Amino acid sequence: TYVVTDNCIKCKYMDCVEVCPVDCFYEGENMLVIHPDECIDCGVCEPECPAEAIKPDTEPSLETWLKVNADYAKTWPNITQKKDAPADAKTWDGVAGKFEAHFS
Ligand code: SF4
Ligand code: F3S
Repeated sequence: TYVVTDNCIKCKYMDCVEVCPVDCFYEGENMLVIHPDECIDCGVCEPECPAEAIKPDTEPSLETWLKVNADYAKTWPNITQKKDAPADAKTWDGVAGKFEAHFS
């Protein structure tokens, strides 16, 4: 499966939802997650994210993010259409510690 990681937080560009063939993105206030049981591993979303926040879970040290994606995909609503990204999205791109500071 692919997972959404830290840099999505407060950037939330949502380009990813437009390309997913199985509509497996779920929306929280500050970020999206991928439902790991629904993702078919096609990899199409990875290069579409301007924040480079989407990674295959075969990369090292993504266990925490896999759990975040799996847990929140169960309760957050499905999202299939891109909306406007936050107005200050660019200022959050690459900022460290977003999970600790802003995750809700
Ligand atoms: Fe959707 Fe493919 Fe990305 Fe999985 S890898 S979330 S199926 S676009
Ligand atoms: Fe987040 Fe990138 Fe999608 S910033 S909302 S994973 S396009």
